[in-house]
Amino acid sequence: MPAPSAASRPRVWVSQPLFDDIVARLGEHFEVGATAQVTVWSPAQVAAKLRGCDGAVVTLNERIGTAEIVQASSLRAIANVGVGYDNLDVEALRARGIVASNTPDVLTETTADMGFALLMAAARRITEGERWLRDGRWTQWSFDTLLGSDVHGSTLGILGMGRIGQAIARRGAHGFGMRVLYHNRSRLPERIERNSRAARVDFDTLLRESDHLVLVLPYSPATRHVIDSTALAKMKPTATLTNIARGGLIDEAALADALASGRLASAALDVFEGEPAVDPRLLALDNVVLTPHVGSASLATRRAMAELAVDNLVAALGHGPRAGDPPT
Ligand code: DGY
Repeated sequence: MPAPSAASRPRVWVSQPLFDDIVARLGEHFEVGATAQVTVWSPAQVAAKLRGCDGAVVTLNERIGTAEIVQASSLRAIANVGVGYDNLDVEALRARGIVASNTPDVLTETTADMGFALLMAAARRITEGERWLRDGRWTQWSFDTLLGSDVHGSTLGILGMGRIGQAIARRGAHGFGMRVLYHNRSRLPERIERNSRAARVDFDTLLRESDHLVLVLPYSPATRHVIDSTALAKMKPTATLTNIARGGLIDEAALADALASGRLASAALDVFEGEPAVDPRLLALDNVVLTPHVGSASLATRRAMAELAVDNLVAALGHGPRAGDPPT
């Protein structure tokens, strides 16, 4: 049978460079508009790129809402590379019958590793110490240089006990002998609680009792600024706060106040409300570890995410079994 002509094949857009060999798989079924270089697309450019497409692979950089999809009447599927999908207007996509998918599971352990690394960096003042050394301020070993807080045997608090939260809990409980508390909308099955040695508590208890609090919950208008000045005031002054989810969970101005005044010992942030812009007040503080949204950034995991997103798109457009766990 002759191969379908280019014009009759579905068209897909890939918004950012992924891995060429993985993106090439899309070419077996579709006309592919790939993106060769990291690009900051404006909403109007995203809309223009989607026009005439049947599907797209996008990242958290590209917001896909009503304005973008009304102009893309042929659009049938969006594959988001990432587990978080607050960049997608899921309701608007669902209303138009567009299948949206994300890439859960494949990044769980890698992101949990990063959460733990950040927690430890904040507790033991690792990046602060490195800056101090590089600045030439180390003149002699001294007893009270950069005293931090212990991780082992302390209380780990997890806000949002999904897959990544559970993976962090396992690290804390089994690797560091931590007592693990979590807060979630609902209680997890006993088997999971036992496996991660975690106990569910209310939000205030979590804030009050955690020595190290990690945020791993999805971002939505309902969770925006869940950590605000009121929440921060309930935390121990010796505590650390780590965020590997989405920047908008924290009121960054309130956090900067708490860190500057010593109301909170330290924080570690991989995500920011206006990223890639970072609040200059946070940049000026020593007691906050700042990383550029790299929670899932190991080579193996990024490849697995790209593979899964491609599989999801291929399946959603009717060319293979669905591999992912789509939100719509
Ligand atoms: C995620 O998977 O949501 C990460 O933030 C990177 O996309």
